[in-house]
Amino acid sequence: MNPDFLRIFAPMNDTITILGIESSCDDTSAAVLRDNVLLSNVIASQAVHIKYGGVIPELASRAHQQNIIPVVDTALKEAGISVDEVDAIAFTRGPGLVGSLLVGVSFAKGLSIAQNIPMVEVNHLQGHILSHLIDLPDRELPHPRFPFLCLLVSGGHTQIVRVDSPTEMEILGTTIDDAAGEAFDKCAKVMGLPYPGGPVIDRLAHEGDPKAFHFARPHVDGLNYSFSGLKTSFLYTLRDKVKEDADFIEKNKADLCASLQATIIDILLKQLIRASKETGIRDIAIAGGVSANSGLREAIVAQGKKRGWKTFLPELKFTTDNAAMIAMAGYHRYRQGVFAELDIAPVARLEELL
Ligand code: KG4
Ligand code: ZN
Repeated sequence: MNPDFLRIFAPMNDTITILGIESSCDDTSAAVLRDNVLLSNVIASQAVHIKYGGVIPELASRAHQQNIIPVVDTALKEAGISVDEVDAIAFTRGPGLVGSLLVGVSFAKGLSIAQNIPMVEVNHLQGHILSHLIDLPDRELPHPRFPFLCLLVSGGHTQIVRVDSPTEMEILGTTIDDAAGEAFDKCAKVMGLPYPGGPVIDRLAHEGDPKAFHFARPHVDGLNYSFSGLKTSFLYTLRDKVKEDADFIEKNKADLCASLQATIIDILLKQLIRASKETGIRDIAIAGGVSANSGLREAIVAQGKKRGWKTFLPELKFTTDNAAMIAMAGYHRYRQGVFAELDIAPVARLEELL
């Protein structure tokens, strides 16, 4: 089939309604966006992974397959629109788990053909960043001005991104090993905390002393990050202390969480401050699952006050994976007239998208 038919029929009317689909990891999500106003955002999280202490790709794909139709149906109903009012479908192409992504991509293709509307592919990470452009029906949210810097911190990625426009972004620094979210999750696992560990550590850290323990900080070039040394240092501290006292973790859980979280935040902020100094950019945003962390949010605001930054914290519902951000990114690609072909396939790694 000639995918050009999609371009011919793509209406460039004034108001654009986008159906966003997100299925890159373990959340099945669909959202309806009218221009930049979010009409609905439905997320089905997959509890099946909790007992395994991490996402099992095979189980994730199956759960997406079960969830996708009801989730889309609910998103349309909550938005109060019929499928005929959708102008285009935006879907996450990657990075992520291929088996999970396949469900969203295939769904988008089917609906595109059935409705004779175009599809737009979205880079999941750009989606996280562009969640800062979303408004709600009853209230406008604060939006950073271009160019802005975004600290993107999720379970799979940690990057400092220079955002020049909704479609032009440059990665200034990235992790050379683990992501910040991985550091939270892996250290939580060592302490016997449930998956995902980030929110649990966040909660326990409130009751602990952030200076109680000292863990290794990395020395990395430029604006890059590294978290594997911290993870090892955390592991060795626990191993040594548990030899002396078998109940050490239980007795010191809050202090361990507070100290670990403070170290991760210090590492994240050091490079972000450097990036702001080097670029002269003072509109600073954070995005991704770890941007829900209360300590990180407070620290960014405090640094902002000290350094004259305008800081932008995403609404908590836009921090973890959601289709609202995918619809927002898709909207801008749609406006540019960049549509996906019908033979498009998902990609696991970010490098394959560039
Ligand atoms: O963006 P996301 O939902 O999925 C990926 O694209 O990776 O991020 C998930 C990550 C997990 O590592 C989770 O532990 C972390 O975000 N996370 C948090 C918090 N909430 C979620 N980390 C620290 N503090 C939190 N409050
Ligand atoms: Zn994500």
